[in-house]
Amino acid sequence: MSATERGESKIRIRPMEPMDIDRVLAIDSKITGVRRAATYTDLIIGDLGKIPDLSFVAEVDGEVQGFLLARRDYFGEPFSEEGMIHILGVEPDYWRQGIATRMVDALAETCQEKKLNAVRIMIDERDDQLQSLFERSGFRRGKLVDYTKKFKK
Ligand SMILES: CC(C)(COP(=O)(O)OP(=O)(O)OC[C@H]1O[C@@H](n2cnc3c(N)ncnc32)[C@H](O)[C@@H]1OP(=O)(O)O)[C@@H](O)C(=O)NCCC(=O)NCCS
Repeated sequence: MSATERGESKIRIRPMEPMDIDRVLAIDSKITGVRRAATYTDLIIGDLGKIPDLSFVAEVDGEVQGFLLARRDYFGEPFSEEGMIHILGVEPDYWRQGIATRMVDALAETCQEKKLNAVRIMIDERDDQLQSLFERSGFRRGKLVDYTKKFKK
């Protein structure tokens, strides 16, 4: 049994730094499978490695095993200043240990400290796992509906 399984490992949540990008992309490609030319995470971080301002990583025993990309954004009219989560991911060997929850809770706390009005994420309505994760952290389904016009390629 590993130290992690025995609950002895130390999880630390901290803001994401440029030095974390390679590790974040490695976790992302492990989750998404075969490395594609560009993943969604690559696109969000961008070529210049500009990290969205409310992003976090989770370290377990000093190594990054989870990431959450989020930024300050504006919604509605009159507008509300909120935190917007783009994506989060945890190294598969570390799933179901509360790491994602810890990152989401750290983000929510930071958004409150920064006097933002809320924190938000778009979730597929069929994704019960992700909905359960966020509901357990106090998120509730909102009233905005996704309207999209798709283009043929
Ligand atoms: C989704 C993901 C980030 C969850 O990370 P995690 O650290 O394992 O999540 P947590 O341990 O904090 O889980 C909290 C709760 O969420 C729910 N949950 C998380 N993963 C689940 C799963 N595979 N099946 C069912 N419920 C799940 C459970 O309610 C869980 O609580 P429990 O373990 O006490 O039952 C991780 O599975 C992942 O990286 N998945 C691939 C990428 C992805 O889907 N990202 C989200 C798109 S933005």
